[in-house]
Amino acid sequence: MANVEPQECLSVALKLVKQAGDLVRDAIKKKKNIEMKSSAVDLVTETDKAVEKLLITGLSSAFPDHKFIGEESVAGGEKCVLTDEPTWIIDPVDGTMNFVHSFPYTCISVALWVNKDAEVGIVYNPILEHMFTALKGQGAYLNDEKISASGETDLSKALVFSEMGTSHDPEKVDTVITNITTLLTKVHGIRAMGSCTLNMCHVALGGVDACFEFGIHSWDTAAAYLVVKEAGGVIIDTEGGPFDLMRRRVLCASTQELAEKIAKLLKQYQPERDDAH
Ligand code: IPD
Repeated sequence: MANVEPQECLSVALKLVKQAGDLVRDAIKKKKNIEMKSSAVDLVTETDKAVEKLLITGLSSAFPDHKFIGEESVAGGEKCVLTDEPTWIIDPVDGTMNFVHSFPYTCISVALWVNKDAEVGIVYNPILEHMFTALKGQGAYLNDEKISASGETDLSKALVFSEMGTSHDPEKVDTVITNITTLLTKVHGIRAMGSCTLNMCHVALGGVDACFEFGIHSWDTAAAYLVVKEAGGVIIDTEGGPFDLMRRRVLCASTQELAEKIAKLLKQYQPERDDAH
């Protein structure tokens, strides 16, 4: 097993994430070269690719034995397999649709998982200068200030984030609409901002009480997972039970009680797993 010192891993990754943030900040207002991936609304730009390259080049030079799962590398045909080995899981630009439209709710997400558990989580919105960080067992931070989930347990008082996602599969679209319809009259408010990763971080920050989504990928949740846990929030599967990073479903909430209340109401949807191939 490769050697891992979480604090050192965090420091090295933070420097690279800040450099990557410069790329995103410089590019967000400019014209982008946009390509489609799994659907007409699943997008990638030259910035997504440049950020992933910068991060993987820098991290693999500092930690030559570590493994990688990167959104654009997987889109390019690499396998998405999580082993016990130290593995950096990277979403170079989460909320690519927002980035394409210059809407400033977008971020870079970098996590280090070891023995199939998160050790380091970094989520950076370079437009709003929001840097979320977490080390296992050491709390979660926004720009060096400790953060914590709201503690809300009452569904009728909960502000809930969900997403439309990037799939036009009719069953998936029906799941999105059914769940919004079900929850709309039961919760305080529903929002869809366009970044699963940032939605989770805002649960960690306490401004949002829960968020859920079907069809996300391991790179959307890997870093925010630790930020939420270290902020005292919970992450479970959408039907309850343990969260599975590769299962492409997430429900996160300020408390277990609130998470379970939402899980009971959700129509379920199972996309193909990230590690199916
Ligand atoms: C997407 C965002 C979006 C969510 C999609 C994700 P990407 O990530 O997190 O909020 O609805 O399911 O794929 O493609 O912008 O990295």
